[in-house]
Amino acid sequence: MKAVVVYESLWGNTAAIARAVAEGLGDDARALHTDEATADALAGIELIVAGAPLLGFSLPTEQMLAAQGDAMPAPPKPADISHPSMRSWLAALPAGKGRSAAFETRIWWSPGSAAKTILTGLEAAGYAAIERERFMVTGRYGPLKDGEIERARAWGAKLASAR
Ligand SMILES: Cc1cc2nc3c(=O)[nH]c(=O)nc-3n(C[C@H](O)[C@H](O)[C@H](O)COP(=O)(O)O)c2cc1C
Repeated sequence: MKAVVVYESLWGNTAAIARAVAEGLGDDARALHTDEATADALAGIELIVAGAPLLGFSLPTEQMLAAQGDAMPAPPKPADISHPSMRSWLAALPAGKGRSAAFETRIWWSPGSAAKTILTGLEAAGYAAIERERFMVTGRYGPLKDGEIERARAWGAKLASAR
């Protein structure tokens, strides 16, 4: 199965999960930032897995992303806001056929869901939803909770075997 993982990540937690999910999916699967996941890169893809952080109880909005550039107090490392948002990537996603799954990185107790919004967008483009998953960080900017990378790899393998 031809699969790809597409992600948005400001501080690296979602990027690390995306790479682990791609490893679990198999040798041919790659983790791509939104600007790498072009129509050409998605040609013939049978499964799109997309992920983003949960910010302000939702999939980050353009306003939230812009605000991270000069956030006070300053984060331990600057936010990478150099890539298109997951929202804008979904809005421009060409219609396709295949299946989809979505994930978010987040703090365990928070309300809200980014993955739900992502899955709705993928379904609107023609990618039938399989499932969504959450991966936990232990603080506002991370790090990921112990064991989450391994769990992401296992989730990727499970998606690859889903029929
Ligand atoms: C400004 C800000 C808002 C956040 N809002 C939420 C939130 O509403 N719910 C939650 O569970 N986590 C929240 N978090 C934690 C992030 O979801 C978490 O750090 C995520 O892993 C960041 O992903 P990234 O490193 O890929 O950018 C917030 C973090 C920041 C810095």
